[in-house]
Amino acid sequence: MRNLADDVEKILLTRDEIAEKVRELGAQISADFEGEEVIVACVLRGAFVFCADLVRALTVPATIEFLSASSYGKASVSSGNVQIKSDFEVDIHDKNVLLVEDIMDSGLTLNRLKEMLQVRQPRSLKIVALLDKPERRRVDLQADYIGFTIPDEFVVGYGLDYASQYRQLPDIGVLKPEIYTA
Ligand code: PRP
Repeated sequence: MRNLADDVEKILLTRDEIAEKVRELGAQISADFEGEEVIVACVLRGAFVFCADLVRALTVPATIEFLSASSYGKASVSSGNVQIKSDFEVDIHDKNVLLVEDIMDSGLTLNRLKEMLQVRQPRSLKIVALLDKPERRRVDLQADYIGFTIPDEFVVGYGLDYASQYRQLPDIGVLKPEIYTA
């Protein structure tokens, strides 16, 4: 029987390392938003696992909204064409918004989402990305909170996919090149 984990060359971040980092991020964000409420904006689909864990590490009052953006399709490099597939309907004017992403790669997705949301004049707009690949950046954008800075390797698991697969793997691993070059 096919085991998805066999397509992974090496584990980059274990589930325990991720859990510890998510606890730290949750504590830091909660401290920074002390006394405030936050709209947590989960960028589907990749961020769904991270976001589910992160909200449970927050102690400040939070509501959860979902946006959907996609630019990769089946490719391993961003097409540069970021499509907003669904937007949330809640009014964010004068509200604190925390955009939650699994990974910042070219930065194009978050740049596009940030531009789209800034127009609505939130009180604050912060970005948390579990993973950051600064080598791949194509726009000048930094996240406010970053879990791990990682090398330019093709990672999957903990919500991250290749061609819609591997999101279910509990650890983050590097995909075997033969999988995405086949
Ligand atoms: C992935 C990831 C981020 C984005 C980061 O999304 O979830 O949203 O790419 O890359 P960037 O910084 O180069 O824009 P993808 O388009 O693969 O959609 P998905 O979240 O549904 O997997």
